[in-house]
Amino acid sequence: MKKQFVNQIKTGDEVNDFFSILKLDEILKYKSKSGSWFPFVVGDKTGTITAKFWGDTEDGTKTTYDFFSDAKVIRIVGKVEEYNGEKYISMNQSGNVLEKSEDYDSADYMRKTDKDIPEMIEKLKEEISKISNPHIKQLLESFSNDDEFIKKYAKAPAGKMWHHDFVGGLLEHIHSLIAISKTVHASHPDLDLDLLIAACILHDIGKTVEFDIGVNIEITDEGRLYGHISIGHKMVASKIEKISEFPKELEMKILHIILSHHGQLENGSPVKPMFPEAVAFSHIDDTDATTQHIKQMIQRDETEKTWIYSRMDGNWTYTK
Ligand SMILES: [Fe+2]
Ligand SMILES: [Fe+2]
Repeated sequence: MKKQFVNQIKTGDEVNDFFSILKLDEILKYKSKSGSWFPFVVGDKTGTITAKFWGDTEDGTKTTYDFFSDAKVIRIVGKVEEYNGEKYISMNQSGNVLEKSEDYDSADYMRKTDKDIPEMIEKLKEEISKISNPHIKQLLESFSNDDEFIKKYAKAPAGKMWHHDFVGGLLEHIHSLIAISKTVHASHPDLDLDLLIAACILHDIGKTVEFDIGVNIEITDEGRLYGHISIGHKMVASKIEKISEFPKELEMKILHIILSHHGQLENGSPVKPMFPEAVAFSHIDDTDATTQHIKQMIQRDETEKTWIYSRMDGNWTYTK
């Protein structure tokens, strides 16, 4: 059973436990002596930490590197050191053991929502039951009554890194979007609230296929080749096809919201939002995703620095 978790590790600690391997950088040669080393990132459900493997010989480094390349969960034996205020695990070739774990408990490695998943599913079904447009309701129920689908939907993350990148993250995102949509609707009561709620529930449905959860979030082949927008468009279009006399205009609006929800072509949407609910929804989605993203970044930063720079954002974040 795993005993050491990333969030408890302090500088000076000896580490000897299993961690998931999340990123493996290239092998680098030492500048002033022979031999090589490589940096990598390991993690568990509580966070991630950089590690460095210091090889004595090029062969030793290569053997370890190859072993790590096809492992998911490996034993890390090393010491926690600090460089520029950031902790990392320092691993030496001598004393290193090459050990993979095959019978790990994925719950030790994957972050999970702190909200109750079955409760979130119940709340979602309640929202669907309140929809007054019978066609929208039938469409949403065609998903919510599908137990196989709900199993995947309940666990899906909403992202790999950007926001809600944990088990149950998609559901958490959806409930937040429903709450924001209701607030926007209070100021703009002429918007179609049923359509907005459908947008919240359906827009990222393709993420149930785009991501696969093991010890971390992997992008599936379909996810990489099609992306969640086109996967979601297809999933919803094929459900609508099976509903008799689904109004054509409503079909176009729902599918347009899925396609346009990233707002801009450069953000992956093939079309820009073209009617009020679509424009409002793309902002509602962005509000929740970017707010959650920056909150996660601050929560997960362990350096206690006032400012953190994110290359992914190209921006500074004020953490106080
Ligand atoms: Fe999306
Ligand atoms: Fe979203």
